[in-house]
Amino acid sequence: MRAWPMSRDMPWSGLKVAAALLCLVFWGVACNADQQSGGEAMPTPQAIQLPEPALSGPVSLEEALALRRSVRGFSDHPVTPAEIGQLLWAAQGVTEPRRGLRTAPSAGATYPLEIIVIVGRAEGLAPGAYRYAPGRHDLIPVLQEDQRQSLARAALNQSALLQAPVTFAVTAVHARTETRYGRRAIRYVDMEAGHAAQNLSLQAVALGLGSVVIGAFDDRDVAALLNLSSGEAPLYLIPVGKPR
Ligand SMILES: Cc1cc2nc3c(=O)[nH]c(=O)nc-3n(C[C@H](O)[C@H](O)[C@H](O)COP(=O)(O)O)c2cc1C
Repeated sequence: MRAWPMSRDMPWSGLKVAAALLCLVFWGVACNADQQSGGEAMPTPQAIQLPEPALSGPVSLEEALALRRSVRGFSDHPVTPAEIGQLLWAAQGVTEPRRGLRTAPSAGATYPLEIIVIVGRAEGLAPGAYRYAPGRHDLIPVLQEDQRQSLARAALNQSALLQAPVTFAVTAVHARTETRYGRRAIRYVDMEAGHAAQNLSLQAVALGLGSVVIGAFDDRDVAALLNLSSGEAPLYLIPVGKPR
């Protein structure tokens, strides 16, 4: 007898529970997608939208692999916003928006990497530095004026950094991966930087551009120049441009 009144209530309470569960699921998905896309739900007013990345091109993957060579001498030919956008997309672009998954694999999809483009000579983009927002495929200005001399100084005066029209700094927020993987995160994050850098290097070849991955620099000087917070570390500098 006691079961009956309860079961009369059941449709309502069942509905309430189902609705609450549904809300939780949606909230979880939204939070997860937001975190995976770098917490980029709100576009900033000064963001610069990049052209849509191309999903096909004239150079095969095999040709790009065979042709890739470190390039350290660049002409002063400017790069285009389409080239910058394509290179950023290759490194960290979102390829599955529903779950925020990207071109490069990431341990547990924790996405610790960030990319900052240091622009010296680009069509329609003022010299300075810009942070890539993968979820929106846009750039947030972070520094004004040509920073190439300071960047080269922070990296043993490597001339590739002076000559290249743009340099991509791959940085990492280790805490994003550490919360799930603890000490093993250090290795995972370094591996991810390799994935992203290789994607970018091969995309450069496919665009008729050259690049070199640079690991020899003063961490503190690069972090200070790029105004990184204490939880963000520079891992790679990748100058890109037309080979001289
Ligand atoms: C982790 C790492 C760090 C590197 N650091 C530098 C660097 O600071 N400066 C540089 O000119 N090349 C750097 N390189 C590029 C190597 O010198 C280059 O890949 C190597 O000579 C092989 O030539 P290849 O890239 O043309 O195949 C680095 C490569 C790796 C993988």
